[in-house]
Amino acid sequence: MTALDTHSRTAFDEKAAEVFAGRVATILDDGAIAVMMALGHRAGLFAAMADAPPSTSSAIAERAGLAERYVREWLAAMTVGRIVTYDLQAGTYTLPAEHAACLVDGAPLGNFAIYAQHVALLGAVQDRVLRCLRTGEGTAYGDYPCFHQIMAEDSAQTVGGALFDAVLPLAEGLVDRLEQGIDVLDAGCGRGGVLIALAERFPRSRFVGYDLGSDAIAFARERAEAAGLGNVRFEARDLTGFEEPGSFDLVTSFDAVHDQKDPEGLVRGIRASLRPGGVYLMQDIGGSARLENNLDFPMAAMLYAISCAHCTPISIGQGGPGLGTMWGWETAQAMLERAGFAAVERHVLPHDPMNVWFVART
Ligand SMILES: C[S@@+](CC[C@H](N)C(=O)[O-])C[C@H]1O[C@@H](n2cnc3c(N)ncnc32)[C@H](O)[C@@H]1O
Repeated sequence: MTALDTHSRTAFDEKAAEVFAGRVATILDDGAIAVMMALGHRAGLFAAMADAPPSTSSAIAERAGLAERYVREWLAAMTVGRIVTYDLQAGTYTLPAEHAACLVDGAPLGNFAIYAQHVALLGAVQDRVLRCLRTGEGTAYGDYPCFHQIMAEDSAQTVGGALFDAVLPLAEGLVDRLEQGIDVLDAGCGRGGVLIALAERFPRSRFVGYDLGSDAIAFARERAEAAGLGNVRFEARDLTGFEEPGSFDLVTSFDAVHDQKDPEGLVRGIRASLRPGGVYLMQDIGGSARLENNLDFPMAAMLYAISCAHCTPISIGQGGPGLGTMWGWETAQAMLERAGFAAVERHVLPHDPMNVWFVART
């Protein structure tokens, strides 16, 4: 049977049921490991184990500044999950270099433990989402503990890590214009990490970030101030009905359109806010609007789960359409074209197959 099977079944297939039960057991194990991976990331345990010699639970706990009893239990979960190895005789644990290669900040393959935090968050908000399922109501950002922190880590990796080498070069001539000095808006900037990196790199340009979340904006302001930046400002504001005609040369949005109350209105407002020759650089989730196209899309199950528990209810909670995380690149592209952009290019960057990048020009 395939995920898109259309045949009605007649006889109960015992073998298929057994195989499926085995798969469910694996899902339970893997789901638990994902939550423990998020915990290990937040507690600094992967960082404490990377590049370290085989170590006892006491040594690891001491290095991470944590309580040994809990660390030992976490290590047991990681050992049976085949994330760390355990030397029975020496009583030591090791995070193999090949595993650290995708589990610590700055690792060559990226830090997947950052994404594991999304899985942990799904569990944390289950009661709230259950209420949404029963009533049809939506949620608010305040319902999601640590959301802006997780999102900031996520985008620091997927956007920030490739900003100068891969993202900005998508729009020909953009780096030169940023160096000369232009006006830039980041719509739905969250904690502002990307904008701050741009403001540091291009001192002649002027940057502004808008976001609904006043806590995220307060964080961004503090960081900008600590970095001594005079060319970036952040404002807490609802982008519903956004109108600042002819104000910017570049507008960016990183994973910030589909959650909105009025995604279409925002894209239209962004088009109108651009001066002649202006560019809209839009990153969003790169899945298709059609379920049947997403069966092999990277981490599609996690993305649909995030959609069900976060992106869809967040939009509905604002009075929006609830497009969801997997609203699809087709939907985004059609929205950009309807907004009147003269040219819309679509790209997928090799380091980040989950997202799509649009370069839309006035
Ligand atoms: C998935 S997060 C992305 C944040 C940021 N761009 C990043 O990459 O880390 C979506 C952002 O859109 C913001 N947002 C959602 N609805 C909004 C609205 N109506 N007006 C302004 N910002 C909104 C949220 O507060 C959130 O920070």
